[in-house]
Amino acid sequence: MKKNATLFFCQSCGYESSKWSGQCPACREWNTFAEEPVAPKQKGVSARKSSGRERKSPVSLKNITSADQERVSTGMAELDQVLGGGIVPGSLVLVGGDPGIGKSTLLLQVCQHLAERLPSILYISGEESLQQIKLRAARIGTFQDSLKLLCETNLADIEETVLREQPKAVIIDSIQTMYQEEISSAPGSVSQVREATGVLMRLAKEQNIAIFIVGHVTKEGTVAGPRVLEHMVDTVLYFEGDRHASYRILRGVKNRFGSTNEIGVFEMMESGLKEVPNPSEYMLSGRPKEASGSVVACTMEGTRPMLLEIQALVCKTNFGLPRRTAAGMDYNRVNLLMAVLEKRLHLPLSSYDAYVNIAGGIRLNEPAMDLALVLAVISSYKDVPISEQTIVFGEVGLSGEVRAVSMAKQRVLEAKKLGFTRVVFPQSSWESVKNITGISLVGVSSVRDALRVAAE
Ligand code: TYD
Ligand code: MG
Repeated sequence: MKKNATLFFCQSCGYESSKWSGQCPACREWNTFAEEPVAPKQKGVSARKSSGRERKSPVSLKNITSADQERVSTGMAELDQVLGGGIVPGSLVLVGGDPGIGKSTLLLQVCQHLAERLPSILYISGEESLQQIKLRAARIGTFQDSLKLLCETNLADIEETVLREQPKAVIIDSIQTMYQEEISSAPGSVSQVREATGVLMRLAKEQNIAIFIVGHVTKEGTVAGPRVLEHMVDTVLYFEGDRHASYRILRGVKNRFGSTNEIGVFEMMESGLKEVPNPSEYMLSGRPKEASGSVVACTMEGTRPMLLEIQALVCKTNFGLPRRTAAGMDYNRVNLLMAVLEKRLHLPLSSYDAYVNIAGGIRLNEPAMDLALVLAVISSYKDVPISEQTIVFGEVGLSGEVRAVSMAKQRVLEAKKLGFTRVVFPQSSWESVKNITGISLVGVSSVRDALRVAAE
């Protein structure tokens, strides 16, 4: 007798196993395994014969005529930049993010713009009713008639509709609500989500339609997250941000048609998402003047410099064990840097509490922020403000040395552009920035130097 084919899938990363286990060996998440039936697969030549498909012949490179990929602008420069210059026809783009972060809003705004220049756009929602979408659309603005909406979750019906309507772009909101009847597991399971993506991928390539799919990041193990699909699609974008702050960051994680690590910054307004073309200015607005413990750092997000304020509050601890918190950066990194200060500068920080925060609620992990953090802690400890006209970047090593970071020139130029007058940076990056005029350059090679600078 043939055994019933079922496998266990990790709902977080898609890891496959023949037996259940409590922790996924691949992504180390707990309790994410779920049993799912496997769709019987036909393999090899027999499958092709039964499906009646033609065999394709290989061609040499010079015989391929490249119909120049005409990219279509989304109408939002920030999004175009993350996509690598606009939408490529026939591409499959995954937009992931926490529920409620603004994925549907972003894509509806893309539709609004595309509908003005393309003859037919299809927005398929499996989550909201047409009335709900209309309410959202009313906040965003007016839409051309070439945008058509559809509430549907059956993938075969969707495929049929797409083939009939021949839209130039399709939005699938969200992939976790779509299902195929042939697969017995529930919508949102790893096998459903994967199969659905496979169908959409084929549809995109064969019909030359740009397809965007929304994928929710989920914390529970019941719904497969977008990570399961990352390898299947052309482009992966993650939409992130603090629920309580109004800015949102769109980050490219994978892109077959452009560079990754680009970010786009948006702000959630009453009337939808608005682009923030100059994030540094936005992040620094409302900065305190002459306050100790506040330092402006310069980090790079992809090719884009971003200035932000790092705040530290250091005060005497009332208990034996000092309290430390880090909002927006790695907690362990903060502890490490404070240990470096304790050892190299003999500051008695182990009897001081420290609260560190990146203003604006943004999360970053670039080592180039180390020096700014160190100066913020020193400034707060000594209660001496650091000039608000100064920006700081550099990595700090365990011996207290300040190490070079990449793209020093871009960082200094960004600081200059925003009117800063002094930049404190690693001495070893001196060569690349020495020709920049109009801003005073202070190279430091250890935290001791930095301490001297902070006192100036
Ligand atoms: P939404 O796009 O529905 O999120 P997702 O599809 O990622 O789940 O965005 C929902 C949030 O955005 C909701 O909290 C309301 C807010 N919002 C605005 O602030 N302004 C707007 O114009 C719109 C449409 C939504
Ligand atoms: Mg949504």
